[in-house]
Amino acid sequence: MRVGVLTGGGDCPGLNAVIRAIVRKGVQEYGYEFTGFRDGWRGPLDGRTVPLDIAAVRGILPRGGTVLGSSRTNPLNEQDGIRRIKDNLAALGVEALITIGGEDTLGVATRLADEYGIPCVGVPKTIDNDLSATDYTFGFDTAVGIATEAIDRLHTTAESHMRVLVVEVMGRHAGWIALHSGLAGGANVILIPEQPFDVDQVCAWVTSRFRASYAPIVVVAEGAVPRDGDMVLKDQSLDSFGHVRLSGVGEWLAKQIEKRTGNEARTTVLGHVQRGGTPSAFDRWLATRFGLHAIDCVRDGDFGKMVALSGTAIVRVPIAAATARLKTVEPELYEEVGVFFG
Ligand code: F6P
Repeated sequence: MRVGVLTGGGDCPGLNAVIRAIVRKGVQEYGYEFTGFRDGWRGPLDGRTVPLDIAAVRGILPRGGTVLGSSRTNPLNEQDGIRRIKDNLAALGVEALITIGGEDTLGVATRLADEYGIPCVGVPKTIDNDLSATDYTFGFDTAVGIATEAIDRLHTTAESHMRVLVVEVMGRHAGWIALHSGLAGGANVILIPEQPFDVDQVCAWVTSRFRASYAPIVVVAEGAVPRDGDMVLKDQSLDSFGHVRLSGVGEWLAKQIEKRTGNEARTTVLGHVQRGGTPSAFDRWLATRFGLHAIDCVRDGDFGKMVALSGTAIVRVPIAAATARLKTVEPELYEEVGVFFG
């Protein structure tokens, strides 16, 4: 049997660990052969492939990014997309497709499996941790670790100058990275997309922190929006690829804090640093286990399924269960960390 593998959407630490586990177990235990598809769905659409065998996955476990390349191409928006994928899979002799991706990639995999009978298995990835039906996605732990280390470092420089340090982390729709790194890093304010924030309240927390003779650290998710203003909405723009850019909530907030409290403020935007580099041990562990179970789904002919973490067990769920709705931060969880604000 020949199995295709692709990685789609934004890259994330741990992708190579999944690929390695799939190939190692597939070759050694089941005698399968593999075709690596380049650049997400672009690969099966255009027949772009790379060799994928034991030699190709040697040494990639600790490497960030993806040896297969990635893209945000959506075949459902392409001329004749489904037919081209079916034709290319048939021409290459690929009988099953393992798709490693987030909401968009897995959304496509669901439709290909359920509506068009293409045998897909899903593996959930995203640093944002906002996919439903799995307790964690790999990449998240690494991103939280990087953000936490940055916050730790910013504490000392903030205190040396008695300034406000605003740290903008990733998370357009869900505040998981902000919540976890903010809590782990001892932030004084954490702002997430799920809870529009009150700028005056943020300023009050900042001021009370200064009164206690400490310099405040404000962690803000890139998708957080102020309750009372439409400024961030006005700053939204589409880039040349049609993606929404929520530019500058961190920078905007620092300016507001300076204006309203009279304290000096600086912003650090962590950006893609959170996605690059070597995966944490937890992400390697999770990604490897996902890979081992994904190839078992192929062996069992269990298509339209995604591997997921439930407690400490790897389970199989319909791919659609992961993408039906985003997993966002519940209000109770946010309230729980509020005790540290100010
Ligand atoms: O979904 C992962 C993610 O890193 C988001 O947190 C972020 O908003 C987005 O991707 C950035 O996408 P791009 O790399 O296309 O700019």
